[in-house]
Amino acid sequence: MAFHPPACRWSRATSYHQVVRQPATMNVVITGASGGIGGALVSNLLEDEQVRSIHATFHRARPAIAHPKVSWQRLDLTCESSIRDWASDLGELDWLINAAGLLHDVDSGPEKSLHQLQVDFFMKNMSINAAPALLLAKHTQDKFDHGRPAVFACVSARVGSIKDNRLGGWYSYRSSKAALNMCLKTLAIEWRRTLSNVSVAALHPGTTDTALSRPFQRNVPAHKLFDAARTAAYLVDVIRGLTPENSGEFWAHDGRRIEW
Ligand SMILES: NC(=O)c1ccc[n+]([C@@H]2O[C@H](COP(=O)([O-])OP(=O)(O)OC[C@H]3O[C@@H](n4cnc5c(N)ncnc54)[C@H](OP(=O)(O)O)[C@@H]3O)[C@@H](O)[C@H]2O)c1
Repeated sequence: MAFHPPACRWSRATSYHQVVRQPATMNVVITGASGGIGGALVSNLLEDEQVRSIHATFHRARPAIAHPKVSWQRLDLTCESSIRDWASDLGELDWLINAAGLLHDVDSGPEKSLHQLQVDFFMKNMSINAAPALLLAKHTQDKFDHGRPAVFACVSARVGSIKDNRLGGWYSYRSSKAALNMCLKTLAIEWRRTLSNVSVAALHPGTTDTALSRPFQRNVPAHKLFDAARTAAYLVDVIRGLTPENSGEFWAHDGRRIEW
């Protein structure tokens, strides 16, 4: 069944497409495209006739999605020299969406209380969830220097909102997503001066049925658990609503702003 976003999703009077003529062909980067949400973003954008090319990256295993528009590259987002070398081969970019992230690994998961905190896991969260946003921005910024409206977006998480933190716990993941949000806000301020055509955004996808969330879905009501294709459709819809004027904000999947 086709996905139709709720009619109330875009209450703002204007959208990216209405304000600015879109380029006929768009070049998109999706990092973390081997993940549930990243892979669904690739599948979604393959169907978009405005998208000319998708540079998709994976970390461990190359996904099965094969299409003339898609080129796959292995990339460890914790390694700056790998990011620099990969980025040097890219041409002009219209959208970069970073969908990589970590909540748990084979040894550790989100902390229920302080006594579970391990500094190695805390730093691992920082190195995968926060720092790559800045490394990607640092090494791709010249690819956005073309004057057309463009988007640099990272998939964050509502639990990274300091204002919204009512339950506590999850120190490492929360802190790394809060750090990611600060990275993006600060980047938006710098690029307002130097790359004013780019909208920088943090995105909350909603709870999505992927390997990342699977151990923590038990208390999520069925209607609040999205499949990845639905999440990708929501996020693409949000990204289409971004303009350079609303750069530096934190957006939920339903198009509403989240307080930092
Ligand atoms: N699922 C949810 O309910 C939910 C909710 C809120 C926010 N989010 C956020 O959404 C984003 C996507 O999550 P997901 O649910 O799609 O998770 P996922 O299926 O586990 O995908 C995670 C992605 O991150 C990549 N990755 C991990 N470490 C990496 C590294 N060192 N270098 C490069 N890539 C690396 C993985 O690559 P490999 O698999 O190739 O290693 C994979 O592509 C994350 O930022 C997550 O925090 C998800």
